[in-house]
Amino acid sequence: MKIVTIGRGTIGGGLAKLWRTAGHQVDELGRDSGDVSAADVVLIAVPGAKISSALSAVTGLEGKIAIDATNILPERHGSFPSYAQEVKSFTRAPVAKSFNMNFGGLFDKVREQRVRPSNCYVADEGAREITEQLIRDAGYDPVHVGDLSRARDLEDAAARLLMGVQPVGGVFYRFAVPGEL
Ligand SMILES: NC(=O)c1ccc[n+]([C@@H]2O[C@H](COP(=O)([O-])OP(=O)(O)OC[C@H]3O[C@@H](n4cnc5c(N)ncnc54)[C@H](OP(=O)(O)O)[C@@H]3O)[C@@H](O)[C@H]2O)c1
Repeated sequence: MKIVTIGRGTIGGGLAKLWRTAGHQVDELGRDSGDVSAADVVLIAVPGAKISSALSAVTGLEGKIAIDATNILPERHGSFPSYAQEVKSFTRAPVAKSFNMNFGGLFDKVREQRVRPSNCYVADEGAREITEQLIRDAGYDPVHVGDLSRARDLEDAAARLLMGVQPVGGVFYRFAVPGEL
């Protein structure tokens, strides 16, 4: 798959490394921006408050499936129902919210765990298959929470729940049916 990450820091650069290991072709954009026309899917991994300024500078976005990994820290900005909807206002195509509930500093330890950690995501139907594949290819198990109307819940959960669990360096988590823990 051809993937472009918009943001190449802890999340964008970290996922790029995992996805390349899984065999994908990944390009990374930073503040210098660029074109995403050739991408099958784009990852949004810039500071939440910079989504619109970052995406305004990228060409070729319209019609692209997008995975939005942004969070609302330090505080929510703007008037969109969710940051994922802000992303969708640029792409006008299926969007997923994923990886915002996972600590980027732990990406290099994902594959060392006894069981695969979970990755909670929400998505438009047209983004589900590709998102689940890329979650698995990064070493996590996908947990479908709902459609994109639930993106704000996932953003609030990351800020209010996950960030409240404070071991140094972050945590993995797993939702499992009985027998799979
Ligand atoms: N770190 C985590 O564990 C974690 C977990 C879940 C979600 N998130 C969320 O994921 C997003 C990225 O976090 P991160 O930790 O990867 O941040 P980071 O390491 O600071 O990287 C931020 C990236 O965004 C780019 N950027 C910053 N301002 C920009 C602008 N105005 N236009 C275009 N690109 C811009 C930077 O470009 P340059 O390369 O040119 O500097 C950099 O590549 C944030 O929304 C964060 O809340 C983070």
